[in-house]
Amino acid sequence: MCGIVGYIGKNKANEILINGLLKLEYRGYDSAGIAVIENNEIVCKKDKGRVRNLYNLEGINELESTIGIAHTRWATHGKPSMVNAHPHLDNHNTFAVVHNGIIENYHELREELIKKGYKFYSETDTEVIPNLVNYYYKEEKDLLKAVNKACKDLKGSYAIEVISKDEPDKIVVARKDSPMVIGVAGNDKYVASDIPAVLEYTRDFYLLADGEFVELTRDEIKFYDEDLNNIEKKIEKIEWSEKATSKEGYEDYMLKEIYEQPKSIRETIGSRLKENEKCQFDDIEIDKNYLQSINKIKIVACGTAMYAGLVAKNTFERLLKIDTEVDVASEFRYRDPLIDEKTLAIFISQSGETADTIAALKLAKHKKCKTIAVSNVIGSSITREAHYTIYTHAGPEIAVASTKAYTSQVVLLELLAIHFAEVLENNSEEIETLKDEILQLPKKVEEALKTGEEVKELANEIYAQKDVFFIGRGIDFTVTKEASLKLKEISYIHSDAYQAGELKHGPIALIENGITVIGIISDKKLVKKSVSNLQEVITRGANVIVVTDKDLSKYNFKKIIKVPETNKLLSPILTVIPMQLLAYYVSKAKGLDVDKPRNLAKSVTVE
Ligand code: G6P
Repeated sequence: MCGIVGYIGKNKANEILINGLLKLEYRGYDSAGIAVIENNEIVCKKDKGRVRNLYNLEGINELESTIGIAHTRWATHGKPSMVNAHPHLDNHNTFAVVHNGIIENYHELREELIKKGYKFYSETDTEVIPNLVNYYYKEEKDLLKAVNKACKDLKGSYAIEVISKDEPDKIVVARKDSPMVIGVAGNDKYVASDIPAVLEYTRDFYLLADGEFVELTRDEIKFYDEDLNNIEKKIEKIEWSEKATSKEGYEDYMLKEIYEQPKSIRETIGSRLKENEKCQFDDIEIDKNYLQSINKIKIVACGTAMYAGLVAKNTFERLLKIDTEVDVASEFRYRDPLIDEKTLAIFISQSGETADTIAALKLAKHKKCKTIAVSNVIGSSITREAHYTIYTHAGPEIAVASTKAYTSQVVLLELLAIHFAEVLENNSEEIETLKDEILQLPKKVEEALKTGEEVKELANEIYAQKDVFFIGRGIDFTVTKEASLKLKEISYIHSDAYQAGELKHGPIALIENGITVIGIISDKKLVKKSVSNLQEVITRGANVIVVTDKDLSKYNFKKIIKVPETNKLLSPILTVIPMQLLAYYVSKAKGLDVDKPRNLAKSVTVE
């Protein structure tokens, strides 16, 4: 969850490191620090709070070193504090380490090291690493070998960078179950947990796999496997532009990403769907025989990605007539799910690094399912595990709360369902309508975005509320889940989403005078039912806001937000837009940090 940057080259490291951390704050932002080697000594500067606080630390701007490591933290072991912030040093200030992930056996390792005379100052799991490296260095006298030996003692997940004053022109990097990339531009070399951190310096990256080690010097990069055998790796060209990772004049990344959706959806559709043609998925080879042989589709993910799966379930079941279940990855992986070679398992992850989703995928493979990863990040961990990967191509998403990644995931899954239906030769008029409607989505999303001003006014009316409820039926219920998550994530207002028909079974007891209830209505067949449920809460004093593509002006709702009409199965892509904007503007009205909500991180790389 934390962010890592590293640099070795000819320029001043402090500027590159802090600049990189600023771009990674979406991964964690409760403390930050850097360590460089200056005059053959390790100089470490760190503090709790945001990355920008680093600029205020005495002497940091004067550092001349051209090698260094850096970290922005999302606390797991030990509260945010200067002592718990990374980098961590060994007892002799010879080695400095930054770490992402969790060392599960740190308690035992710490006890053993204490017996050997080491002292610990922080509450973190990370502090065992520099001391272990120190311990092994005594016999190995080689940084890479000492790090490798230390890693063999570690259980859990890690992406680490290590520097040593005894080998002052070297960074050693290792990864297991936590992402890490190496960027190169001539003799300048960059290390990062996420590509955007160093995208302004290079597009050429080596993507590390689990168990790999790297030794970076000014002249060379050497890659090794877990037993330190030399390995060759290929450079990957990353097409994301630097512009894509800047705010481009928007006040916040989230707002920029919301308004980017017509473009990101266009990119997702790409060449997969063209007018009057079949849907093309060159990246997967799934034939009619296979699809006829399966009896279940499992969609597994976390958070917003899981809600994208909920939307798609409707289309898979409708077009393929195959039972489709959606599961939360952290539950699925521990439940001994009933899956086998007759299950097609689809895993959705924007970052491709979510620990639970990756573990769930490994389990599905173990149980003989065919697996497909849906991801936004080229070469991310999940894409290396799955049999097939399909990319959303939504461009980098920086705001912690996901918006454009969600709509792109939904669009991609809709296309996949259509593709499978065509492979199965389940041709129908509905498929042709769906295809036409998908091609019109970017324009319709543009229309839906025009609700911005009225949604902002609404946000200014409701931002002081303590609770907000969202209700809907069928496909509309799937949107209420995402709408409610968005609102609570960034505005800290308690909110809940219910199937409209379930209200009477409990939640209606919470409805009182002046409370806001938001209804989503797009399914023609269910309009009357949903309207009745909303009338029931109006009777009990609720202020009802409705997001709809229907003409509901004859009803006594406090406000109706209209979005363009489309096929029912695609309506979530349009009804969610005002809900994203609502969460954004409520958060702004409360004066909160929209892009970096408290306690949250963009990609959850720990269980
Ligand atoms: C975190 C993020 C969410 C995201 C979820 C799954 O909770 O804050 O926005 O939906 O992780 O992330 P993934 O990268 O797997 O889609």
